[in-house]
Amino acid sequence: MKITILTLFPEFYESYLNTSIIKRAISKNSVEVHICNIRDYSLDKTKRVDDIPFGGGNGMLLKCQPVLDALRAVKTENSKVIYLGPTGKTLHQSVARTLSKEEDLVILCGHYEGIDQRILDYVDEVISIGDYILTGGEVASLVLMDSVIRLLDGAITESSHLDESFENGLLEYPQYTQPRVFEGKEVPPILFSGNHQAIDKWRRKESLKLTKEKRPDLFEKYSLTKQDKKLLDEIENNKVGKWEERAIEGAKKFTKNKEA
Ligand code: ADE
Repeated sequence: MKITILTLFPEFYESYLNTSIIKRAISKNSVEVHICNIRDYSLDKTKRVDDIPFGGGNGMLLKCQPVLDALRAVKTENSKVIYLGPTGKTLHQSVARTLSKEEDLVILCGHYEGIDQRILDYVDEVISIGDYILTGGEVASLVLMDSVIRLLDGAITESSHLDESFENGLLEYPQYTQPRVFEGKEVPPILFSGNHQAIDKWRRKESLKLTKEKRPDLFEKYSLTKQDKKLLDEIENNKVGKWEERAIEGAKKFTKNKEA
């Protein structure tokens, strides 16, 4: 995939592109990222890119000429052109997944109060990263790029995506690492049972519990399987399942026998 960012602040991207997963994706040729400075395309003697809005109002707007000349210089017939702004459709995991299948993304970052409305006629999609106003599209472009690049082959292993929050309509279950006890807080014993079926079931139960509690909007849309319904009954009645008790007991016996 090729991603081209049209921005007034190219230096903003330096550290991000040299960091961890993104750096790896670039070095493995999963993605090529080009940063294009809109100002380089200004035909104005002083390289001006903005002007005041007709009809009055606050702030400055990006002008058509430098933005569209920059866009024409980088766009190919396969490009999908995205403008980042608060009036767009909200970025969700499903949007990131769809965009990760594109060959060539061009991302236009607005600044100041916004852009001349006519620029939108040259854009395929407007995306917002949430219901709040940022000072410009650069921060939003990092969010969008990050959510897309990590889905590309060569960024992270495919199996890491499967249980992630939003991928299957539920929030991800909690995870733990060493030490087993930290400041008196213990890791749930089922995770040491060695019973992978029971661990998967426990994780599913935790995902259901978390989503129901923290994101009732997602939970409502989610269609429960037969097993989910049983787990939900345990959650609502604050019950530890027989399957869970058995898995933990089995592991305890196994450890005792090994010690004996
Ligand atoms: N630019 C300013 N606010 C924004 C938002 N919420 N999402 C995307 N781009 C923006």
